[in-house]
Amino acid sequence: MDLGLQRVLAIETSCDDSSVAIVNEEGIVETLVLKNQDVLHKDFGGVVPEVASRSHSDWVIPLIEEALIQSGRTWSEIDAIAVTSRPGLLGALMVGVVTAKTLAFSLSKPLIAINHLEGHLMAGFLTEAEIDRNRLRQSKLSYPFLALTVSGGHTQICLVHDFGQYQVIGKSRDDAAGEAFDKFAKLIGLGYPGGALVDKAAKKARESGKYRFPIGLAIEKETLDFSFSGLKSSAVRLLADWPQDRILKEREILAHDFQEAVVEALMIRLRQAQQQQKIQRVLITGGVSANSRLRSVAASWAESLQLELFIPHPKFCTDNAAMIGWAGIEKLKRGQFSDSSLSPSAKSLPGDFLES
Ligand code: KG4
Ligand code: ZN
Repeated sequence: MDLGLQRVLAIETSCDDSSVAIVNEEGIVETLVLKNQDVLHKDFGGVVPEVASRSHSDWVIPLIEEALIQSGRTWSEIDAIAVTSRPGLLGALMVGVVTAKTLAFSLSKPLIAINHLEGHLMAGFLTEAEIDRNRLRQSKLSYPFLALTVSGGHTQICLVHDFGQYQVIGKSRDDAAGEAFDKFAKLIGLGYPGGALVDKAAKKARESGKYRFPIGLAIEKETLDFSFSGLKSSAVRLLADWPQDRILKEREILAHDFQEAVVEALMIRLRQAQQQQKIQRVLITGGVSANSRLRSVAASWAESLQLELFIPHPKFCTDNAAMIGWAGIEKLKRGQFSDSSLSPSAKSLPGDFLES
């Protein structure tokens, strides 16, 4: 029995995934449920904010009910309600925040506000209930560590000194890596969201290195910043006068070579940051960390230098409430609660991240 364990019910609605999870203080995800909106946005080639908010409103309550049923937990076993309050789409965040506030105050439980990017950093601490039952738990992430967060909205390298102490040492000056994948996928007719589809297509490529895509800021060795806009423009220029059938014929090779360029752009900065900071523990997180090529290149690099590398299970890489739940547990332990004035914010708040 685990009567003494604290647990948090977490809600994530910052973009286009409605998700609810119950996470306990051992970092075990007791349940994670998710309603993905890809089908609603795919005809538009990107997330439509109003459509996203409406779908979150439809799904958030059924998902909370499902999470409780699946885990067999009752409200009396939930110690706090955590919710993503920033950054993200304002209307989408609003649905989660209003729901969490209503639950917290009607059930007299603490309300905990989480920064979505902090959530991605916390994904490295999660373990699935199933894995834990089978005693297959790998070594656990601990502070301090170096983190590369690569998602649809952000690409940044942080020094994570401790919970709540995140020092940004490099970030994208323009597009995020996931955004580059999504725009490229649209260009070669793969659909939305593109990252996973490029990953899949790249595996089928018959040759490699046929197309050269530039790596942004490659010659600037003084910075840990990224740039992905040149990569996208070069793809637009390359394909400008190609007929559809040629794109179709070359699609897998194009996907492969583009993916190589993104992965290399990320790895150049990660290697550089690790050397500079001389830190042995590294986390790669965010939606793009589900990329199979990035995972294998990073694993070989870590092995060659005997680094401790953590990349979450793919279901904890892309947006999910479990990562918000672990951040919630950390704040619950510290008594860092919000009150009824909590409101969503499209951007991170000053102090969420320390700029170096
Ligand atoms: O973290 P996330 O779910 O949402 C944001 O916080 O933005 O990241 C979504 C991004 C999308 O751009 C998606 O195309 C990308 O992650 N992504 C991938 C893969 N799976 C998701 N990119 C490359 N390869 C993948 N396998
Ligand atoms: Zn995210």
